[in-house]
Amino acid sequence: MFDDDKRVPMPAALRPSEYTAALIQALRLQAGRVRGADALEIGSGSGVVLAALGAMGAASLCGVDIEADAVASGELLLRDLGHGDKAQLHRGDMWRPVAGRRFDLIAANLPHFPMEPVEVAGRRPTWSAGGADGRRLLDPFLTGLTEHLATGGRAVITHNGFVDMERSRALVAGAGLALAVVLTTLVHIPEEKLGRMTPAILAAEDGRTIHRYGPYAFADMHIVEIAAA
Ligand SMILES: C[S@@+](CC[C@H](N)C(=O)[O-])C[C@H]1O[C@@H](n2cnc3c(N)ncnc32)[C@H](O)[C@@H]1O
Repeated sequence: MFDDDKRVPMPAALRPSEYTAALIQALRLQAGRVRGADALEIGSGSGVVLAALGAMGAASLCGVDIEADAVASGELLLRDLGHGDKAQLHRGDMWRPVAGRRFDLIAANLPHFPMEPVEVAGRRPTWSAGGADGRRLLDPFLTGLTEHLATGGRAVITHNGFVDMERSRALVAGAGLALAVVLTTLVHIPEEKLGRMTPAILAAEDGRTIHRYGPYAFADMHIVEIAAA
């Protein structure tokens, strides 16, 4: 589906989510730290997070996504907004397209919902699913950071409350990095997604990081910053 009033096509499957909004909000809170940065986003989707970083004055914008239409949409968006000359979008898996490269700022809103890949709410199976424990992409992302952060660099990522924050903290600590929660918000979890969540995680987190009011469910979602300890 496309919005005919805009020059840039907006595939419905790539529409920004509450996670995207919170990630942009956290980045905007410290916009001064974005100016002049070489920025990377893993899982760039529509390209809107990169567009926001471009608007905050990032020196270069690099995006990686596994889906061809995400790469095409991101390129179009960044070009249309006047960032084309400093943007590079790559189709590929996680760190592979940027092997050997380092960045001042690495943003990510990775698929890390604890479920197996399936199409939900008009999204592709690659959009949200992080496997049974939600960590299929999160763990290699966290362990790859030391090879891709420039000196003094940082990562800013979304992190579901129900996806073991302590494990993330321990993983990055093992690489000499520290993790800090910079923003916490609630996100709505639609029934069709909640019903696909790994049952053991749902049972453990219900009433802890997952809050239900009748048929409606919300979950704690954190934006975390990871940098040298
Ligand atoms: C939750 S969406 C986030 C999209 C966008 N960053 C945003 O905030 O709107 C996750 C993105 O990761 C991409 N993705 C999934 N698996 C990937 C992988 N192995 N390597 C790179 N990108 C991947 C998906 O295609 C999707 O665009």
